Amino acid sequence: MIVTGQAEKGEHMDNMTDKQFKTILEMVDMILDGCKDLEEAKAGVKEIMLDKKFGTAGNEMVIEEFMTGREVSVLSFVDGKTIKTMTSAQDHKRAGDGDTGLNTGGMGTFSPSPFYTKEVEEFCEKYVYQATVDAMAAEGRPFKGVIFFGLMLTEDGPKVLEYNARFGDPEAQVVLPRMKNDILEVMEACIDGTLDQVDLQFEDNAAVCVVLASEGYPVSYEKGFPITGLEEFKKHEGYYCFHAGTKFNGDQIVTNGGRVLGVTAKGKDLKEARANAYAATEWVNFKNKYMRRDIGKAIDEA
Ligand code: GLY
Repeated sequence: MIVTGQAEKGEHMDNMTDKQFKTILEMVDMILDGCKDLEEAKAGVKEIMLDKKFGTAGNEMVIEEFMTGREVSVLSFVDGKTIKTMTSAQDHKRAGDGDTGLNTGGMGTFSPSPFYTKEVEEFCEKYVYQATVDAMAAEGRPFKGVIFFGLMLTEDGPKVLEYNARFGDPEAQVVLPRMKNDILEVMEACIDGTLDQVDLQFEDNAAVCVVLASEGYPVSYEKGFPITGLEEFKKHEGYYCFHAGTKFNGDQIVTNGGRVLGVTAKGKDLKEARANAYAATEWVNFKNKYMRRDIGKAIDEA
């Protein structure tokens, strides 16, 4: 909901649902630094939108539904008309254990998500996936490529938080190792419009990725430290090391970013994959190596 005109403001405030009020409260609280109830929120909105405390920045207010629930990422291939979803994954966005600290690009993932049940999948197939592809085609912009559905499993059912036209990172690091198909054939089918003939299949196992970052990420961190142990991954089946913030310095691979490497391991189930991934993080070393120690903690709650 976008609130703009002068007359509208009062009406919207009176007709809002509890969820919308909660959003307003949080938003105004954030802007005005303290706001304890609806009356204060209303006064805050008046201050921002009518009294123009922040000038023209208060001309328009976007009110979004406040959602809570588990997040699930579902990547998909699309050829303009057909969509084939990949296996599900869950990211860990915050820098610190227990989902504390700043938001990051993603500190680790696991796949599949035990919370993405058959029921959730059927709901999304009926109301989200094909509907998205059909809507783009109907607008005269048929989409070919990868769509990333950022879902939230709310009390009211699954909702789409975000769409991305790309693979997720580090979602891809746990989804693609489990894919049985040749990815180039799937991509060619997307280009050729023949995705309906592809039987997209995933292994009946699990994968966990733990991101090795530079201490201080995402704020400030040092770069240029030599990385050792990468050769271990060649010796073990089902283990992968994805480079993110690295570069060559002569013959030596060194750190060159906040998120340095994604260490992925597969296992027969999520718990085994998690143990394998954390064991593999010990193979790799560099100065200032930092990782979350609780990637996949939700696995124990499933
Ligand atoms: N891991 C979240 C993203 O790629 O947007």
